[in-house]
Amino acid sequence: MKFVKLFEPLKIGNTEIKNRIVMPAMALNYTPNGFVTDKMINFYEERAKGGAGAIIVGGAQVEPRGGGPGMVAINDDKYIPGFKSIVDKVHPHGTKLFTQLYHAGAYSPTFNKEDPAVSASAVRSNLTKMVPKELTIEDIKVVLESHAKASERVRDAGFDGVELLGSAGYLISQFLSPATNKRTDEYGGSLENRLRYPLELIKLVKERVGKDIVVGIRVAGDDFVPGSNTYKEVATFVKYYAEAGVDFIDVTGGWHETRVPQIPMMVPQGGYAYLAENIRNVVDVPVFASNRINDPFIAEQILRDEMADAVCIGRSLISDPYLPIKAKENRIWDIRQCVGCNQGCFDNIFKMKSVECMRNPEVSREGNYDLNRKTDNPKKVLIIGSGPGGLEAARVATRVGHDVTILEKKNYIGGQANLSYVPPGRGQIRDVVDYYAAQIEHHNIDLQLETEATPEIINKFNPDAVIFATGVNHIIPDIEGIDGSLGTNIHLSDDVLSGDVPIGKNVVVVGGSGTGMETAIWAAEQGALDSDVARFISMYELMPRDEVYAKWLKGNRNVTIIEVLPRLGTNVGRTTRGFLIGHMRKLGVNIITSANIKKFDGKTIQYDVGGEIQLLENIDSVILATGVKPNTDLFDKIKASDPSFKIFKIGDCKKPRTMMEAIHEGFKTVFKIDS
Ligand SMILES: Cc1cc2nc3c(=O)[nH]c(=O)nc-3n(C[C@H](O)[C@H](O)[C@H](O)COP(=O)(O)O)c2cc1C
Repeated sequence: MKFVKLFEPLKIGNTEIKNRIVMPAMALNYTPNGFVTDKMINFYEERAKGGAGAIIVGGAQVEPRGGGPGMVAINDDKYIPGFKSIVDKVHPHGTKLFTQLYHAGAYSPTFNKEDPAVSASAVRSNLTKMVPKELTIEDIKVVLESHAKASERVRDAGFDGVELLGSAGYLISQFLSPATNKRTDEYGGSLENRLRYPLELIKLVKERVGKDIVVGIRVAGDDFVPGSNTYKEVATFVKYYAEAGVDFIDVTGGWHETRVPQIPMMVPQGGYAYLAENIRNVVDVPVFASNRINDPFIAEQILRDEMADAVCIGRSLISDPYLPIKAKENRIWDIRQCVGCNQGCFDNIFKMKSVECMRNPEVSREGNYDLNRKTDNPKKVLIIGSGPGGLEAARVATRVGHDVTILEKKNYIGGQANLSYVPPGRGQIRDVVDYYAAQIEHHNIDLQLETEATPEIINKFNPDAVIFATGVNHIIPDIEGIDGSLGTNIHLSDDVLSGDVPIGKNVVVVGGSGTGMETAIWAAEQGALDSDVARFISMYELMPRDEVYAKWLKGNRNVTIIEVLPRLGTNVGRTTRGFLIGHMRKLGVNIITSANIKKFDGKTIQYDVGGEIQLLENIDSVILATGVKPNTDLFDKIKASDPSFKIFKIGDCKKPRTMMEAIHEGFKTVFKIDS
């Protein structure tokens, strides 16, 4: 596919962006005191160098009570010089700059009791679980004015535009929604009244800066919240916004509190572009599509299908700042697209940490490493194991000039990652493996498959450094009855997910970690109608549509998941855990927690819940997802031999953790080789 649309310039109000790629606002947590930092400037400069058409900085808080800790601020003139520094570094690369003016209303975490979070009405927030203060008419004027002042500061700093935050359930959404706006004055009740605040805001900001810079708005394409606005109402709101003078409309999905996944991997690529199309059909200003547009081909298709005029590429510009240039130069193999894991970005935000990226260890450390600079001290490096950590070490070590060999005992690379992408909604993990396969080929890295490393092989190789990325072994719980059945009707999750072992009708997954939950979802979808088959049956009306739908949605297995802890998914990030549980519920998976398995007995499991023994009967297949432990056998042997070369352990073979930790350790270890 040629990128015939993606690199067309786009006129937005009184400015023009050089292509259709917009980096949307993403709070980075790089600004502990609200002031722009070098870390933040370097981050944006890198994305500008990479070829983004426009970058939306922020969200930037316009009032402390509407912001949050770690956010960049624009509520005082003292913040202007920092914003100017971003302009100085970004504009020379031809990238336009907007700032998102952020007011979370009731979604703001209320740390300050004297100045609590505010909203249209004092309705308890489903996100913060707190009750905000209702804004008085006077207060509304203050909030409007703080946005207007902030927009003037953005303009004075040399930015090209501002984006008002009318999405995700923040203050504008709270005024628009009958679920959160219970006012009886002119700001509540009728559609006209609920629209009053956003329209006053647009008009005021346009009046104050509209001649100089672009003024756009981000909207929730559908709130996805019961009793709130749907795509139908939103199609009406945006007509008023356009009339009030917005220069662009940036369309995301729903509110933060929705139970519909918005950005995790399970959201199909480009899955919310239909919401942008819904709006593009009724307004004449440029419309941006957003969410899970992580790949230039998907982006190009959305533009070709006239669903949007530009695409927001958020996390994929975190994971690969150079995605635009690589797409333009047709270096697709080298693109490290976001897979939607959220491990380094959104999950870090919830932990009050700086945004990082599972795929790109340089994020938040831009400029600290130069992979184009060759080492003065090249070494012979042996990497044992080709999971993501070992592969990242191989990629980086080769880039900086070491002589690298990978030994892999299987006849393929990727290790556990090959199983991670099997469960439904996890397929994008495959991109991690594919990316490294392309890197190995392109950099001509010596990969020796089907080669099990031994101390003899390692010593014969005469390395300067050995990186052990030997992964994990399964933990088999010491429970009565397990020995006799292992391999007959009790199987390891790896053996099942790899396709080596078929599963029966009634399935029990033991262990409710991320792997257990994903395996349960996978099992519950076995036997479901394939989408193409469902489409074919529907098109020729071979079965009533509701029956096709039921057979397409769910598989034909009965699945139970059983966990000893009171909660499932304690090792899964906050942005994904709830959705995995929701997914299991939709598939009818029977969830049992706080359950201690006492005995496996043929087709029966005995377990104890709160001192009461219960039974699961007629089980055909038991799948063990009971955890893993580091595989350090080879490392221990080599260490004990007091080797003359450096040795390192990385990733799961050091301690089983996330893929992000494995990849980041692989990256960082390279810089210890010649130190
Ligand atoms: C770490 C992080 C912070 C975000 N902060 C904001 C924000 O301040 N304002 C906003 O409108 N959206 C915010 N978003 C949402 C993104 O703008 C974008 O809509 C979302 O990541 C989906 O797009 P993507 O799949 O291309 O990443 C944030 C997303 C992430 C990952």
